Parts: sequence; C-alpha cells; structure tokens
Amino acid sequence: MLRTALTSQSRLFSSSAARLTKVAVLGAGGGIGQPLSLLLKSDPLVTSLSLYDIRGAPGVAADVSHVDTASEVNGYAADQLDQALEGAKVVVIPAGVPRKPGMTRDDLFNTNASIVRDLAAAVARVAPTALICVISNPVNSTVPIVAATLEKADVFDPKRLFGVTTLDVVRAARFLSGISDAPPSETVVTVIGGHSGATIVPLLSQTAHGKVVTGEAYEKIVQRIQFGGDEVVKAKDGAGSATLSMAYAGAKFTNALLRGLNGEKGVITPTFVKSPLYEDQGVDFFSSNVELGPNGVEKIHPIGPISAEEQALLEACLPELKKNIEKGKAFVA
Ligand code: NAD
Ligand code: LMR
Repeated sequence: MLRTALTSQSRLFSSSAARLTKVAVLGAGGGIGQPLSLLLKSDPLVTSLSLYDIRGAPGVAADVSHVDTASEVNGYAADQLDQALEGAKVVVIPAGVPRKPGMTRDDLFNTNASIVRDLAAAVARVAPTALICVISNPVNSTVPIVAATLEKADVFDPKRLFGVTTLDVVRAARFLSGISDAPPSETVVTVIGGHSGATIVPLLSQTAHGKVVTGEAYEKIVQRIQFGGDEVVKAKDGAGSATLSMAYAGAKFTNALLRGLNGEKGVITPTFVKSPLYEDQGVDFFSSNVELGPNGVEKIHPIGPISAEEQALLEACLPELKKNIEKGKAFVA
C-alpha cells in the first residue's frame, strides 16, 4: 500500500470537519479509473482519495499523489478492499470489462454482474453509509444489483445509490452545441430513462436550442445521443469504450454529489436512482433530474412537459428498462 499524506497542504482544508471527504475509486487502475482518479485529485472537495483495483492501483496512486493539490492519496492492492473502503463517504465504481465492437452493454452482464455484486457486498460491510456511484455497465442492471446486494445486507438506503448517466448529459450538450450556434454551457439537455440505446431519452424540447431542432436533424441528434457510446467503441476498434469523456463525466457527477453533501443548495442533475416516477409500470429505477443534498438524493423531480416525439421515446424506453432492471434483481435473488 502506498500512503502519501500531504499533511501540510491538507491543513488548508481542515477548518471544516464536514468537508473531510474520503472518496474511494474501485477499478482505479482501468481506462476510466486512472483519469477519473486524476480528476478527483484535482477536486478541492475531495480530501482523501482511496484507489483500489485488482491490479495496478498502488502505481496509479503513487503517480496521482504527486499532483500538487491538498488531498492525500492511498493505493490498495487486490487483497486490501476493506482497507480501501474504511471511512469512505463516496464510493465510485468503474470496475468491470468494457465493450468491444458488436457487443451491447447487456453482453457485459455475465462478467460485470458478479464484480459489482462483490464490491457492493464489501461496501455494505465496511462503509454502509457511503454514497455509491455505479459506472460499470450495464448500468440499467448493475444499479439494481447493488441495491439488491445492499438490501440483503440490510443497509440499502435509496437516497445513497446512483447510476452515473452523466456521460449522456455531457454528450447531449456537446452534440446540441455542435448543431446550434451556442456553447455547450447554453445547450444543457436533461436526459432521462436509463443508460443504453433506446433507454436513453433526451428531452431536447425543454431547451431553447433543442426545441427548434426538427425533422431529420432531430432524428439524427437523438440517435447520436442514444448511441454515442457505440461511436467510441467503433472508433477504438477493440481497445475498449469511452474512458476519457467518462472520467470527465464521473468527476463532474462526483463533484455535484460532494457539493450537495456539503450543503450547497440547488445542485440538480440527472442520475439513475430508485425512483417512484414509473414504479406503477414496474420500472423502479429511473434517471431524471435529482436534487442532491447532505444525504444524497434530496428530491426526485418529475420529468416535466415533453413533446409527442419524446413521449414515443419514453414508451420505447420503459419496457426495455424494466427487463434490464429485472435481470439485475434476478441475479442477486
Ligand atoms: P477497463 O478494462 O479499462 O478497466 C476496468 C478496471 O476494472 C480494470 O483495471 C480491472 O482490473 C478492474 N477490475 C476488474 N474487476 C475488478 C474488481 N473485482 N475489483 C476492482 N477492480 C476490478 O474498463 P473501462 O474502460 O475503465 O470501463 C469500466 C466499466 O465502465 C465498463 O463496464 C464500461 O462498460 C463502463 N462504462 C460506463 C460508462 C457510463 O456511462 N456509465 C461509460 C463508459 C464505460
Ligand atoms: C458509453 O456510453 O460510452 C459507455 O456506456 C460505454 C459503452 O459501452 O458504450
């Protein structure tokens, strides 16, 4: 284990105990894990960074720990999962295999389901009150797997579990900016549903720049947002899926979570959570705008007014999402 305590710089942040936030990354040695760890090292709201992987985390920690920000960084080897999780307030999970061309995210289920389940069981045992952010695919199933695992251990708190769908939001803003005469900061789009193909539902009609996109241009941008992941998988040609944009999105979501934890008001972003919105249709996990607060989920916002096209997208999303959720639950049961 590498233990690098940058104690003198840590004092800069030690005036408020509430802000002492240890973030653990499980899968820190991977394509997402490495740049995500770097970005989290740059986040002043992270005071301690705990990097775990079955291979390579101590090396990543040694490297990242030289960055001149105040947080301390510790790396943990395969047999040190419990130590890595001790005292963690936030646990981010990008562990698992990525897609190759021709695969769906669901094709990753057989490998990633047990990885995520076992990591969740460790979180339940060692850091049962941590906020958990699941990146590992298929998110539509891995989040229910984590929930069911925590439930089994009697520590599930729906306010504290998040599927990270931020990359869909990041893509939507970027792609809409690309076809509008506006910067991405002005083309932010709420993306609801889940995180795969037809379950990804962008609500372009709710934005000034999005609602004027119609016809073929509308079809094209929706397709691009829903299948942006495939674009990267194809371009990487067997070398994996999105890692850098995902690390950016993961760090962005973690920062939002930490701002909420620290009491900042009005931190609202889409995320895949246990949700009452479509429970009556058997879909009890759903991504919509969620206000984040000191306990995690503060308020789940309704989706708001949507267009006829978006209603059709939502109707295509729900049955597929239901299947993915049920598959995750069945795996743990
Ligand atoms: P990668 O293969 O580069 O890295 C995965 C890492 O997980 C590896 O370092 C591996 O050693 C580690 N790992 C495997 N089993 C582990 C375990 N039991 N405990 C700890 N670490 C373990 O893959 P990647 O490109 O970083 O992608 C990781 C996952 O994230 C994939 O499932 C991918 O589909 C998913 N992903 C999700 C999104 C999203 O938007 N939510 C975006 C991109 C990728
Ligand atoms: C993405 O959206 O880029 C990720 O879910 C990775 C993938 O498999 O497409």
